[in-house]
Amino acid sequence: MTHTVTRRAANRHFLMCPPEHFDVVYAINPWMDTSVPVDTARALAQWETLKRAYETRGHTVDVIDPEPGLPDMVYAANGGIVVGGQALAARFTYPERAKEGPAYDAWFTGPAALGRGITSAGQSGETQEGEGDLLLVGDTLLAGHGFRTTRAAHDEAARRLGLAEQGIDVVPLELVDPRYYHLDTALAVLDTGETGNPPLVAYLPGAFTAESRATLERLYPDAILASDDDAAVLGLNVVSDGRCVFLTDRAGRLADDIAAAGFDVVPVDLSELFKGGGSVKCCTLELRPDAATAAHGTA
Ligand code: ARG
Repeated sequence: MTHTVTRRAANRHFLMCPPEHFDVVYAINPWMDTSVPVDTARALAQWETLKRAYETRGHTVDVIDPEPGLPDMVYAANGGIVVGGQALAARFTYPERAKEGPAYDAWFTGPAALGRGITSAGQSGETQEGEGDLLLVGDTLLAGHGFRTTRAAHDEAARRLGLAEQGIDVVPLELVDPRYYHLDTALAVLDTGETGNPPLVAYLPGAFTAESRATLERLYPDAILASDDDAAVLGLNVVSDGRCVFLTDRAGRLADDIAAAGFDVVPVDLSELFKGGGSVKCCTLELRPDAATAAHGTA
């Protein structure tokens, strides 16, 4: 495939949580194996490399303090969803992660968030795992359900974040494979469509019901389809700024297909964080400011 589109980067604000307390001491997804040791120092070094990769490309990274006893807090994408300067904090499926919801909400309520043009809309009442399942593609919120976030949580997020008022439609997508328990493990947002190109995603067809596959085919006829092998290294768990796509260095053909579509592929080694069932996107929550802050820019 040869590409004819020019990819343009947009500056992003991210929230990340250093894996100082990262470990695998419980198993709430099929990737986690408590008998496999974790090298926390190595996890931290890999995480720092990812953070620097964002910063050297002009993105702003805020850091939330990790809390002892919350080993999965490094997966900041799950902390909530931030759209139009309104942050709705997560409510986790498993009790092991329950305290992360208030921890992320405390950040959304604090001075750092305010400085970024973000205010808290509180914590979700329904089970909702943030950008693990809620992925914004321009004016479409792709909303995963089946394992973690519920349909009721999609409706609640739409209501409390005023998505309809912002012209954003919610499209539910049902996940069926326990290995791909969050939408961001089964689908990668490559181009949101905001810089003039058509929106583009990559996904693993087998992770979805037939009905959801049909929805994806209708919305994204040019989507990149991932192989089982690339999905199984969490190759779809990417962050894209519209030009650079940050993804695991273990991805094979998927990385080639992304490059062929005109993106700069930035491979990152997150082998320690893979042991918890997460990769690049899981470690990264996007902070979308209110319109006024976005217009002035805070980077
Ligand atoms: N161990 C975490 C869990 O099972 C991993 C979360 C990964 N995050 C993500 N955005 N997919 O909840």
